[in-house]
Amino acid sequence: MQNSVKIKIRNLYFYYRTRAILKNITIDIHENSITSITGPSGQGKSSFLTILNRLCHSMEGARVEGQVTIDFGKGFEDIFQKDYALPELRKRVGMVFQTPNPLPMSIYKNVAFPLKLAGHKKQDSIRKKVKRSLEHAFLWDEVKDRLSDDARLLSGGQQQRLCLARSLVLDPQVLLLDEPTSSLDETSVQVIEELLARLKNKCTIIMVSHYMDQVKRIADQQFVLRDRQLKSV
Ligand SMILES: Nc1ncnc2c1ncn2[C@@H]1O[C@H](COP(=O)(O)OP(=O)(O)OP(=O)(O)O)[C@@H](O)[C@H]1O
Ligand SMILES: [Mg+2]
Repeated sequence: MQNSVKIKIRNLYFYYRTRAILKNITIDIHENSITSITGPSGQGKSSFLTILNRLCHSMEGARVEGQVTIDFGKGFEDIFQKDYALPELRKRVGMVFQTPNPLPMSIYKNVAFPLKLAGHKKQDSIRKKVKRSLEHAFLWDEVKDRLSDDARLLSGGQQQRLCLARSLVLDPQVLLLDEPTSSLDETSVQVIEELLARLKNKCTIIMVSHYMDQVKRIADQQFVLRDRQLKSV
């Protein structure tokens, strides 16, 4: 039996200026599951993710039509509402980008940053959450002795795991992952896949991936994006 629906996408169109990227997409995404999106380069996979936390709304020339509603526990909410609280939405819908984007600050401060933004003040609790998130992202052992180093000194794969830790620190209900293992070695890929398989017990994961083997291993629901359409596989 399938889990309950978490995200309803109805008649979704997405444009950059006059160019249509996505056309009439209607799908449901189920809670506590991993949904994968594959498809050729340049088709709009990353753009699709940015619709679900409304990041696309701040991109010049981007335009969305249709409806996206998410059930955060109190019934389905229309996230395109004009006055929808974006900080609240982005706390609940975390995102890790295709290219790691550490902030120009220390490793510790990068992971603590969302907590600070959300108004957390207790240093003890912040420290615990930072440690837990770094452990979840399998980075803690590698950075525990250099937490005050600039995060930009980390390797590409470490930066990717740092960004994952930063998005986990607020316990998001939905996690958008854009090619989360693209710059990781084989062992790290395996640990991240195990992490995702465990994480889905408490969150709904939507993952863009180019690796069909990976998708087959961990996705519960598979879509391919082609000709502006998301097709179920
Ligand atoms: N900010 C933007 N303004 C205008 N066009 C954009 C913008 N961002 C992306 N595009 C265009 O939208 C299309 C879809 O891009 P997107 O990055 O979503 O593709 P993708 O499927 O994620 O590709 P890849 O697999 O290479 O990451 C591309 O043609 C891209 O050039
Ligand atoms: Mg992309």
